Amino acid sequence: MSQPRTVAVVVGSLRADSASRKVAKAIAALAPSNLKFAFVEIGDLPHFDQDLEATPPEAWTRFRGEIAWADAVLFVTPEYNRSVPGALKNAVDVGSRPYGQSVWNGKPAAVVSTSMGALGGFGAYHHLRQSLVFLNMPTLNQPETYIGNSLSLFDEAGELVNESTTEFLRGFGQTFAAWIDTHTAPAADRKAA
Ligand code: FNR
Repeated sequence: MSQPRTVAVVVGSLRADSASRKVAKAIAALAPSNLKFAFVEIGDLPHFDQDLEATPPEAWTRFRGEIAWADAVLFVTPEYNRSVPGALKNAVDVGSRPYGQSVWNGKPAAVVSTSMGALGGFGAYHHLRQSLVFLNMPTLNQPETYIGNSLSLFDEAGELVNESTTEFLRGFGQTFAAWIDTHTAPAADRKAA
């Protein structure tokens, strides 16, 4: 049995009825029981401004602490104009500073992109991965997770009702759990780092 792991979930959409958030919740519900998911909110983060670092906004400190505490990060995001929503890019930037103290560094990650259209947010998925390479986050390669037609996958109560997507996300959770195990240093090493 794998060790318990905490996964910080960062959702790129801020709207209440977000399909991306529903996908994230479905992944959490379908994943192996050793993964504990904690949603980390990004909507209250002031725009990154290096001049604020001397006295960082409370929301930045809260966010950085929540990501630092997690063993891994799951990003679930819609595509905005073939890229990542500004709020998500801002969160990525906030977590990456102060220089040399990035909370992302070394944390295993996975990206799931969503779209109401057929392409599944391919552009957002790969733009985000570009940042994660720079941030030194070992990011799951397969399965690629472009969730298209996202608005049609849920019923009015927000429950996932598409069978093939359910099975796909169940498998994704299992693969991500194994990925986290492979890319998480033993506790003793983490203390020493
Ligand atoms: C979109 N949408 C969109 N869809 C897509 O497939 N490619 C894109 O580039 C864009 N661009 C885009 C920009 C902006 C500003 C908005 C508001 C929307 C549509 C998008 O897929 C749809 O609104 C989703 O429902 C957004 O995800 P959530 O909020 O449901 O998680």
